[in-house]
Amino acid sequence: MNDEEYGSEFQEKSKYIRGNLTGRGLDWSNKSKIYKIYPNSSKTALRKPIPEKIEKSITITEIFEQRRSVRVFQEKPIELDQISYLLWASTGIQRIIGNTAFRTTPSAGALYPIETYLFINNCEQLDHGIYHYNIKDHALEQITEGNFSNSIAKAALDQRMFSLAPIIFAWTAIFQRSKWKYYQRAYRYIYLDAGHIAAHLSLAAVELGLGSCQVAAFYDNEINDLLDIDGKEESVLYLSVVGILK
Ligand SMILES: Cc1cc2nc3c(=O)[nH]c(=O)nc-3n(C[C@H](O)[C@H](O)[C@H](O)COP(=O)(O)O)c2cc1C
Repeated sequence: MNDEEYGSEFQEKSKYIRGNLTGRGLDWSNKSKIYKIYPNSSKTALRKPIPEKIEKSITITEIFEQRRSVRVFQEKPIELDQISYLLWASTGIQRIIGNTAFRTTPSAGALYPIETYLFINNCEQLDHGIYHYNIKDHALEQITEGNFSNSIAKAALDQRMFSLAPIIFAWTAIFQRSKWKYYQRAYRYIYLDAGHIAAHLSLAAVELGLGSCQVAAFYDNEINDLLDIDGKEESVLYLSVVGILK
């Protein structure tokens, strides 16, 4: 960490100021692809989110009352249907209008810069390993096999909950998807998009009777290396651990 004022400078420089908006046109030939896919990975189809899987009926008000950061979990597996629901609720496709597949969470300009990866440490229907969420097909793509709970705990400043959680969400951004339209101001929107997704995850976890904690303290490039992404075009922004309440 250093004391350079790059954050304040960014905040100041990325302000919209009346009279200064240039209204540049969009270069449609250079629009980024909205979906990342791993074509050679082994793929697990997820079932459509099924509300009857939700153990108890709970109102949104009760969910707001119960949401809190949970950092200790039972050493029990998470179910594949629960994972499916959490993925759908946080960033799944919800409706299609024309050529746009809109999602459960808002995104500036519907450009959807956030990708979702999972570290699966305890799920009977899935091998241990690192997975990518294929949003278009509502499926999981396995990137690497193995138990990464210790590596991710280390990368997340040795926070113990990472060793206990059956599943860890990692959200990255593919910056160019948003910069194509919003240039440097895109960074504001990208972080806001990630916040929406994490908020939905935290609420959906309560709905399923699970616990979660959102985490931004980690060594970025150690997580990027685990995910095999370059940390420049695509880099990690945010993590969440999810597990079974004690
Ligand atoms: C952006 C962000 C980053 C956070 N990072 C961490 C973290 O690295 N470790 C942790 O234990 N909790 C983390 N938290 C959880 C907060 O500590 C927690 O939300 C706060 O103490 C309020 O408690 P509550 O969530 O139980 O209401 C983070 C929360 C947010 C929103």
